[in-house]
Amino acid sequence: MCGIVGYIGNKNAYPILIKGLQRLEYRGYDSAGVALLNGQVNVYKKKGKVSDLEDYITGQDIRGTIGIGHTRWATHGEPSDVNAHPHTSQNGTFTIIHNGIIENYSNLKNSLTEQGYSFVSETDTEVLANLIEYIYRTQETNAEIAVRIALSKVVGAYGLVIICNEEKDKIIAARKSSPLVIGLGDDEYFLASDATPIVEYTDRVIYLNNDDVAIIKKDELILKTIKNDILEPNVQKLDLGLSEIEKNGFDHFMLKEIFEQPRSIRDTFRGRLNAEKNEIRLGGLYHVYDQLVNAKRIIILACGTSWHAGLVGEYLFEDLARIQVEVDYASEFRYRNPVISEEDIVIAISQSGETADTLAAIQLAKEAGATVLGICNVVGSSISRETHAGVYTHAGPEIGVASTKAFTAQVTVLTMMAMMIAREKQLISVEKFTGLIKELEDIPEKIGKILENNDQFSDIAKIYKDATNALYLGRGVSYPVALEGALKLKEISYIHAEGYPAAEMKHGPIALIDENMPVVVIAIKDSSYDKIVSNIQEVKARNGIVIAIVTEGDDTIEKMVDHVIAIPETDPSLVSLLSTIPLQLIAYYIAVMRGCNVDQPRNLAKSVTVE
Ligand code: M6R
Repeated sequence: MCGIVGYIGNKNAYPILIKGLQRLEYRGYDSAGVALLNGQVNVYKKKGKVSDLEDYITGQDIRGTIGIGHTRWATHGEPSDVNAHPHTSQNGTFTIIHNGIIENYSNLKNSLTEQGYSFVSETDTEVLANLIEYIYRTQETNAEIAVRIALSKVVGAYGLVIICNEEKDKIIAARKSSPLVIGLGDDEYFLASDATPIVEYTDRVIYLNNDDVAIIKKDELILKTIKNDILEPNVQKLDLGLSEIEKNGFDHFMLKEIFEQPRSIRDTFRGRLNAEKNEIRLGGLYHVYDQLVNAKRIIILACGTSWHAGLVGEYLFEDLARIQVEVDYASEFRYRNPVISEEDIVIAISQSGETADTLAAIQLAKEAGATVLGICNVVGSSISRETHAGVYTHAGPEIGVASTKAFTAQVTVLTMMAMMIAREKQLISVEKFTGLIKELEDIPEKIGKILENNDQFSDIAKIYKDATNALYLGRGVSYPVALEGALKLKEISYIHAEGYPAAEMKHGPIALIDENMPVVVIAIKDSSYDKIVSNIQEVKARNGIVIAIVTEGDDTIEKMVDHVIAIPETDPSLVSLLSTIPLQLIAYYIAVMRGCNVDQPRNLAKSVTVE
């Protein structure tokens, strides 16, 4: 949450900052601001989107070869001009942008108030700006030392970029629990919350680690710890193309990402499946392979859509690999007193790899001695670095706030893991194993077929766009798909939607059903088919409207329901990869028809880096 950018070099910083903020806007869009250093520091900030900031800045002085910019997801203080970043210290010495939360800001604020400081905003960030300035003045030290001392007094999370009005040749950056990447150019450096604003300028990057502080001049970078230990920068090559972060002709990133799924799933299994050799190779798991195969229990931790992927994983690991699985919200797990043993395998799933609750849950599991694996999409992200081992999903950057291709890529990885263990334990025959590999290899083509019938989803959306509620039902592995379908609809269209295990309907939700209630039922041909047919009849008996996702060739359900969407047949273990696609598209078209901002739904941000 919150996107930060910075530039120091010989070019005009403003266009680089604005473009960077546009790329990072998915991280928060309550307000935006920039500060430009050109003899003096000019700060421009505005409530609303980056485009509102651009309108506001038109005609103002935008010169400066050093600058910082911020797009905000509000934590402390409502979205407003005054609470927007950058924040400047009382005497104008320090101007800072911040992603994260200063947990002890209230105590720090009280102490600074006693020292004569007053505050114009309600933010924790302004407190930090003043703390740095107070230390700088009272200890008569330089900016870097003042920053390091201030950070040693801070409890919380930060990705920080700072400019000092009295040391005009540098930018200071620091990181703890909120991501920060530095791009290395020729006599110039770029800073950002993730690599997307950097990719068009350089492919050489440094991912800051917790407690790192970088002192950056246009031709020099010094990396050290808060405690002043010098560090050797680890320069990595960025594996990201510009076209991956652009809409490429689609109206929205979400639609582009839905249509990318044949490619993203193929990239996720590419080089990992080998039907001829009866093998699945997940290189990132080699050194934990034996532990994983022999695990008595797997605990899956995640949030939101990634948690839904975890629920699919539960079915797969239990069904194929016969391992007991618990799936928990990371936010619940970390505040319980969970029973964790050294034999446990914990799998943390996260698209961004930065979700604060998931990171904290990983920490807890590691402290208890468990082996923690990550399934992440963003290469170099915090979770991928905090875990003992892991598998990248290779879905490519996901920019729409609603997660789509990340979900199917996560399910693909979980499927490969479950199959790999099942085969190693000889729980499935060679024939079944190679059959599954072939089915998995066919999934991209089958998704392609679903996408070809795109019109049916917008037709259904047209009919139900004004619904106020919707119910999603599924059994077995289709239950998490129902949850995911409901989440997609509610988060982008603001229609209240609930996902339920179909059999649970009779224990309460059935009371909601009337002639206005669309009920989406995932009714594919699997072992619970007859049961789900009964559930459909129960809905129809109460005049409910049923939209059924069925297996191609099913002519039984077609006669019973209002709308039928057929998906190609596949192995029941893989069906969630197909049945999810129509639900993503129905949610997308409904949101578009309701005039919602699909890629940036209200109140949300792409990576939730605060708890
Ligand atoms: O980056 P993560 O996968 O850890 O994010 C988890 C959730 O915040 C995320 O899936 C969220 O629920 C999405 N908005 C769902 O579309």
